[in-house]
Amino acid sequence: MTHHATLPMPGPGQWAAGDAPPPDAGRQDDGHGGPLPRLMPARPAPAGLTEHLTRFGAPPYRGAPRRLIGDVEAAGLTGRGGAAFPTHRKLAAMAGRGPAPVVIGNGAEGEPASSKDKSLLWYSPHLVLDGLQLAAEAVGSATIGLYIHRNPRLYERLEAAIAERAAAGLDAARVELIEAPHRFLAGEESALAGRISGGPALPRFKPPRASQRGVAGRRTLVQNVETLAHLALIARYGPGWFRSAGTPDEPGSMLATLHQADGRMGVVETALGTPIAELLRLPAPAVLVGGYHGAWLPGAQAELLPLTNAALRPLGAAVGAGVLAALPGDRCGLAETARVVRYLALESAGQCGPCFNGLPRIAGALAELAGPWPRPQVQADLQRWSGLVAGRGACHHPDGTVRLVRSALQVFAAEIGHHAHGSCTGTTSRPFLPLPAEPPLDDTDWE
Ligand SMILES: Cc1cc2nc3c(=O)[nH]c(=O)nc-3n(C[C@H](O)[C@H](O)[C@H](O)COP(=O)(O)O)c2cc1C
Ligand code: SF4
Repeated sequence: MTHHATLPMPGPGQWAAGDAPPPDAGRQDDGHGGPLPRLMPARPAPAGLTEHLTRFGAPPYRGAPRRLIGDVEAAGLTGRGGAAFPTHRKLAAMAGRGPAPVVIGNGAEGEPASSKDKSLLWYSPHLVLDGLQLAAEAVGSATIGLYIHRNPRLYERLEAAIAERAAAGLDAARVELIEAPHRFLAGEESALAGRISGGPALPRFKPPRASQRGVAGRRTLVQNVETLAHLALIARYGPGWFRSAGTPDEPGSMLATLHQADGRMGVVETALGTPIAELLRLPAPAVLVGGYHGAWLPGAQAELLPLTNAALRPLGAAVGAGVLAALPGDRCGLAETARVVRYLALESAGQCGPCFNGLPRIAGALAELAGPWPRPQVQADLQRWSGLVAGRGACHHPDGTVRLVRSALQVFAAEIGHHAHGSCTGTTSRPFLPLPAEPPLDDTDWE
């Protein structure tokens, strides 16, 4: 039984001009009682307001704050931005006593291996805008922003969608569009708050969290754009409908960005709990789960696992924002990891000593390990430096980077043995995991 629906996805920054429907477009049963895709149009095409309202009807405003929160709690919706935090708890904290908060939809998607938020915003902008408005109503806010990956065509499309809704008099509040810099960390919530307040997109030490003091010093609710789209559907169809996909503990569907070993990339909407083997074409020597702050798993192990945090967390991995990549048999996993870690080290915001000094050392040592005849102490150095940077930053960048490095040392242990003897199982050095062509090195790019 099929658990997911495949959507065509133009690469980051390469939006398809024609929006032609894919050969396999059409709803499919998700294997758990509900049709997928829920969030994306079944036939990808510009989802104008008329088509959106025909498919979903008007956003079901409740007429007062808080009324939606019980449904979100019963649905068991968790954040799709990476941490899977229960959404109702954030809404309830914001709807409590205090000045009205700012509400921000987070579509920065700084992770180079992820395209699901760009796809969602491109194909279903009105669902995200419904979710933003409904979340704002739920917490009693009329100050709304949408923070998006920098891309002129995406910006224009969203600007047009916002104008369409204003002309139709659909919503109570106006939505401001803000572009995120092309940085890995731009979507971290304190970096987001800094950028939207008019400063650089730099992470800050917490507390205060954005929920306490965020945009312009105001309490700020930050939700991933996919979370908001799910919320817009829960408001319409209720918690029981939402739970008809997924597992009891991790309900609903999610968007995932898949990198197949043959180089093909796509965004799918799938039920939580779907076997990874149904999403990736396996076998593969190793599978990267959760993106560049995620973890490698041996391919044979990943092949047996469902896409849930319950299954992945005991192995040091997590669903995260839904990136899955199957390492091709002709690539060296150490070399792939070394390229990514070099990129991550360059993306350090340079504010915290252990991160700023430690990540380049780790990247250098990993590059040595990925080459022939590394010095014998390199692996021990890597372990030691990883221990020194983990948990020592204003944000989770060092922790996420170290998670990736440690998983590579484990999963590619046999490969490390080959390199120690001057050989490598990789037969091509062509890069597999996507990275920005030229990582921006200019500090002004934070803004
Ligand atoms: C380094 C780093 C980068 C992040 N980048 C993003 C991002 O691009 N988009 C996003 O929605 N959340 C990102 N997050 C998570 C946000 O900080 C925040 O938790 C999230 O937007 C909350 O939304 P959610 O609860 O709906 O997932 C990032 C977190 C970290 C630590
Ligand atoms: S931990 Fe690293 S990336 Fe995060 S704020 Fe500090 S220096 Fe920047």
